[in-house]
Amino acid sequence: MRILICDGPRSIGESAAHVLGGALRRRRRPTLGIATGSSPLEIYGAFARGIGIEDLDLSRLRAFALDEYVGIADDHPERYANVVDREVTTKLGLDPANVSVPDGASSDPDAAAERYERQIEDAGGIDAQILGVGTNGHIGFNEPGSPHDSRTRVVSLTAETRAANARFFDDISHVPTHAVTQGVGTIMGARTIVMVAQGEAKAEAVRHIIDGEVSTRWPGSILQRHPDVTIVLDEAAGHLLEFAGQYRTDAGYPA
Ligand code: F6R
Repeated sequence: MRILICDGPRSIGESAAHVLGGALRRRRRPTLGIATGSSPLEIYGAFARGIGIEDLDLSRLRAFALDEYVGIADDHPERYANVVDREVTTKLGLDPANVSVPDGASSDPDAAAERYERQIEDAGGIDAQILGVGTNGHIGFNEPGSPHDSRTRVVSLTAETRAANARFFDDISHVPTHAVTQGVGTIMGARTIVMVAQGEAKAEAVRHIIDGEVSTRWPGSILQRHPDVTIVLDEAAGHLLEFAGQYRTDAGYPA
């Protein structure tokens, strides 16, 4: 695991974009795994400025989102298909046909989840996966207790996750109760993973993920077993780490 503590959102986005870009450039038809939520927005901003992907032919880029709410209105601005369209497809000028999001509106979401898993396999797997992390350590919407070998499936969201995401909705009662998410095993299949976290609210989860035991209680802790993971943090998210002082990067991104 490589850990970087940066001095602000812009350098977090640029550092992450450099690492991801390095992984994408190695492939002829690269596949990017995208996350929604607030944490990765600076990465998409950095990509839109060309950082990390200067010499990449984006018309060849395939992208897969991590997750989608089940039963959210098609035109809701927080439906992840709409977030991805706004924040990634449009900003980077990707061909919408090359961008996939799990189908949370399907009349058979279990079958839709299985299809999504196969779509990722058929694309040759994910080359570079972006992750945020929940305050409870979730990655994608794999809540505590999610099996390490889980694949894309329908899950229930915990009260903690619904409360954290209530800021994106008028009221907590409008936050969906279920989602389709790539599984922990699906995420671990990505060749390169970059997780970003900002703010004090993430500090405890970050500590368990990096310094704690690998367990299903803190789903992101499984990343310790992945051969190519970079975690990019700000001071507040990283301050509980045992070796926090050693992870600071003042250069903004690794050489
Ligand atoms: C979103 C996702 C979630 C978020 C996490 C952090 O696609 O998979 O795991 O990354 O809930 O969300 P933010 O960044 O909004 O704090």
